[in-house]
Amino acid sequence: MKRENVIGRANVEDSPELEAYYAALEREALGALWTVANEIEPWYPQPRSVPVLWKWSRIEPLVRRAPGLVSAEKAARRVVMLVNPGRKEWSAAAGLLYTGVQIMNPGESTSAHRHQASALRFIMDGRGAYTVVDGERMTLGPRDLVLTPNGTWHDHGIAADGTQCVWQDGLDIPLMNALDANFFEVHPDVLQKPSPLSREHWSKPYSPVFRYGWDESYEALRRSSEHSEYDGTVYEYRNPLTGGPIMPTLGAQLQRLAPGERTRAHRHTGSVIYQVAKGRGASVIGGQRFEWEEKDIFALPSWAVHSHANTSSTEDAVLFSFSDLPAMRALALYREQPA
Ligand SMILES: [Fe+2]
Ligand SMILES: [Fe+2]
Repeated sequence: MKRENVIGRANVEDSPELEAYYAALEREALGALWTVANEIEPWYPQPRSVPVLWKWSRIEPLVRRAPGLVSAEKAARRVVMLVNPGRKEWSAAAGLLYTGVQIMNPGESTSAHRHQASALRFIMDGRGAYTVVDGERMTLGPRDLVLTPNGTWHDHGIAADGTQCVWQDGLDIPLMNALDANFFEVHPDVLQKPSPLSREHWSKPYSPVFRYGWDESYEALRRSSEHSEYDGTVYEYRNPLTGGPIMPTLGAQLQRLAPGERTRAHRHTGSVIYQVAKGRGASVIGGQRFEWEEKDIFALPSWAVHSHANTSSTEDAVLFSFSDLPAMRALALYREQPA
C-alpha cells in the first residue's frame, strides 16, 4: 500500500482487523479502494515505458539475418519488434504503440489480411516494395509513408525484380488490446485482386490518401510555415478532406530542425515513436541524452520532458514520427506543458 500524508489522498495504517477485512473482501472478489488509490490515480501520468533509442547500426545486422532463419510465409510477417523494457507484456515500443522492422526479399509477399489496429509503414531501404490496400496497389520507395487503416484489407510484397526491402511498421495493437477491441481476419483469396477504389462520397474515418511520397512530403516540410519552438518546422500528414489526422488513433508528422537548431523542452500526454529520416542530432528525454543519426528509432513515453537538437552546422535534420495523439485528442486527454 502506497500511503501519502496529504489531505485527499489515502493514508490508512494496516492493522490485524483491517488485514482480516481485506482478506474477507478478496474472497468475494471485492477490494478496498484506499489500498490502491494512490497508485491507480497518480498525480500525473506514470508511464511504465522508458525512453529508448534503438541504433540502426545495432538493429540492421539482426534484421538482415531473419530471412535466412524464417520464411516470410511461415512468419506471416517477418518482423523484428522494438520492445520497450517497461512494456514487454504489451509488445509495445512506448505506451500503447507497437513498432517493428519488417524485411522481405524480392518475389515474397504476405497474405492479405485486415485488423482492427491501424497501421502505417515508413520505408527504410530497398526497391520494388508494394502495398495493396483495399485492392489499390502502390509502389513504395525509401521514406515513403503508406497507411493501412483499421479495417482495410492489405497485403505487402516485393516485386520479383526489386531488391531486399526493409521498413518500419507502426501500429496501435497494444491500444486495441488494452481496449479489448482487437480483431484479425485473413482474406479468403490470400492475395487481393487489384481493383480500383472509389473515393466518391468518402465517409471513412481515415484519410482517402494511403500513400504519402517522400519527395512531396519533404518539399511540403521545407515550405511549411508551421514552426514551433518545441518541434521545429512541422509538416503533419493529414486527411486532405478534413484537415485532421490520417487515422482515428494514429497521427504522423515530419519535423525539420535547421542546422544548429535546438528546440525548447516540453512535455505532453501521448506516446511518440521517432525515426530519423535525415541528418544527425540529439534528443534529451526524461533527462537522458540520446544521439541519433539516419534510420535510428527512438521512443518518447507520455509526459516525459523532451527536446531535440540538430548537432550539424550545415545539414538539415528531419525526424519522422508517429503517435497516439489523435486518440488522446479525440478522448479529450491531451495536455501539454512547457518545461
Ligand atoms: Fe497488417
Ligand atoms: Fe513534443
